[in-house]
Amino acid sequence: MQRRRFIRLAAGIFALGTAPFMGGGSEAATPKRYQRVKLVDAQGNGIKAAALQEDENYLFFYPYMGTPCFLLNLGAGHDRLRLASACDNPCGWPGGVGLERSIVAYAAICTHQVTRPSPRKSFINYSPKGGKSGEASGRITCCLHGSVFDPAQGGKVVGGPAPQPLTAIELDYDEETDELHAVGTYGGEVFKAYFKAYRKELRREFGPALAWQESAGEIVVMRLSDYTKRQFFC
Ligand code: FES
Repeated sequence: MQRRRFIRLAAGIFALGTAPFMGGGSEAATPKRYQRVKLVDAQGNGIKAAALQEDENYLFFYPYMGTPCFLLNLGAGHDRLRLASACDNPCGWPGGVGLERSIVAYAAICTHQVTRPSPRKSFINYSPKGGKSGEASGRITCCLHGSVFDPAQGGKVVGGPAPQPLTAIELDYDEETDELHAVGTYGGEVFKAYFKAYRKELRREFGPALAWQESAGEIVVMRLSDYTKRQFFC
């Protein structure tokens, strides 16, 4: 239902055209700006940061209509200094947003071999804190080959074969309305490799060209569990 609305919204907002150039895989020290997109729920209401459930996997598509991103509330218990002080890698990530600085977003595309959540399954997921696996707890894991990323440190790689951090999504937070906009990315991008790897699947899932269009206007945020049939945790 939510996905249908997402597709409908997308079709209403965007005209199909020539696919823009997608960035390469190297790290960048400065944010890369894309369209300013409002994050909304399935009814079209602005997502409130305070309403995001702690440790839930939320999903939206940015900066392209076919590129999935995690939206996470890491919770007030996180070390704010870590969240505010950027990652160890020189990615320029400024930390979480929201009143507790606990809201973060990352491309849900593994930087090892571009694993992504699909409507059928997701090997890449955020594992809630306090889970069975100590390494995975509070981390984003890709169970295909065991890469582990820390969402509290700019998507830094803390395990496995991934060669670079997840691409961080720059969020703009409005303190008055408690609403969120996505405005760009931090760090290296793997969108070019992603589109190459999933060309056929994305055509099937989104239509002939929609997945390659830049997101704009409003984008629906949904629970990952509503988008994908099966999540694999490791
Ligand atoms: S594709 Fe994610 S660890 Fe290999």
